[in-house]
Amino acid sequence: MYLQRRNRILRQSPAIRSMVAETSLSASDFIVPLFIDEGQGIKTEIASMPGYYRNSLDITVKEVKELWKMGLKSVLLFIKCKDELKDNTGKEAWNADGLMQRSIKAIKASVPDMLVMTDVALDPFSSYGHDGIVENGEIVNDPTVEALVKMSISHAQAGADFVAPSDMMDGRIGAIRKGLEENGFTNTGIMSYSAKYASCFYGPFRDALDSAPGFGDKKTYQMDYANRTEAIKETLMDVEEGADIVMVKPALAYLDIIRDVKNSVSVPVSAYNISGEYAMIKAAAKMGWINEDKAILETLTAIKRAGADMIATYFAKDAVKLIG
Ligand code: PBG
Repeated sequence: MYLQRRNRILRQSPAIRSMVAETSLSASDFIVPLFIDEGQGIKTEIASMPGYYRNSLDITVKEVKELWKMGLKSVLLFIKCKDELKDNTGKEAWNADGLMQRSIKAIKASVPDMLVMTDVALDPFSSYGHDGIVENGEIVNDPTVEALVKMSISHAQAGADFVAPSDMMDGRIGAIRKGLEENGFTNTGIMSYSAKYASCFYGPFRDALDSAPGFGDKKTYQMDYANRTEAIKETLMDVEEGADIVMVKPALAYLDIIRDVKNSVSVPVSAYNISGEYAMIKAAAKMGWINEDKAILETLTAIKRAGADMIATYFAKDAVKLIG
């Protein structure tokens, strides 16, 4: 048989395949989400995220040192707020001595070069478990944005390198940028969750922080998963308002969105390989139905191939060990 072109030539050995690979993973691609608890010496495995833990600050600091040694250079902090501190204003979110603020300081003090990013949204602090302030059963936009600005400033004050608003209120990026500027935080970055969808795959995360909405769902602020063009509208507005990095979330069911966003903006694009995506791989691997290590690498490579410049993932440590 005569063939002018034989595509299999470039696939015939590991050496050739790795030479022509269009996408590769490295430790600097990853952002490591950390769940932090009050107390000392506390390490709690999250039931729906086997192998992932919520740690007290002392253990978190040790973990961050280990991450740094492994070549992981950025963490994304989430805290579990005590029930008695939750209310409908979310005011614990900007308490200068709050767990988040203490965590930022402790991490920056022990590993100063680690990039510290912080979640900005009211849900862990809200008695209703919503990302905003509730009035008459509605999540009100403008008072929530004021709260998010205070929260962001307090994170910057504590030493956060990036604030990461994950709430999907309108106008919050512009307001946060203005707040940071007016308070002299000209080096603080904003990684905006720009196209964040109302997703069932957040379930395990809400277990981790005990932050499930007390009523209704998040569909009046997070995006409808039927929509694609709207993701571009959201993202372009965030860039315009001052986002340094934009994010698409979740990642796996939204690879088309990651690519569309990548083609539409000239800022770095991140993607969040979220809790439910972690849980699915863990569960199938536990049943012996897939190979966990291979699934991790295939998943993360696909997210990067889709267009993510960086990936927040609970698999960061596994991936770094696997890519050697
Ligand atoms: C809170 C927030 C959520 C996640 C990150 N920040 C949950 C939600 O919006 O309900 C989800 C992360 C994950 O599932 O891994 N605003």
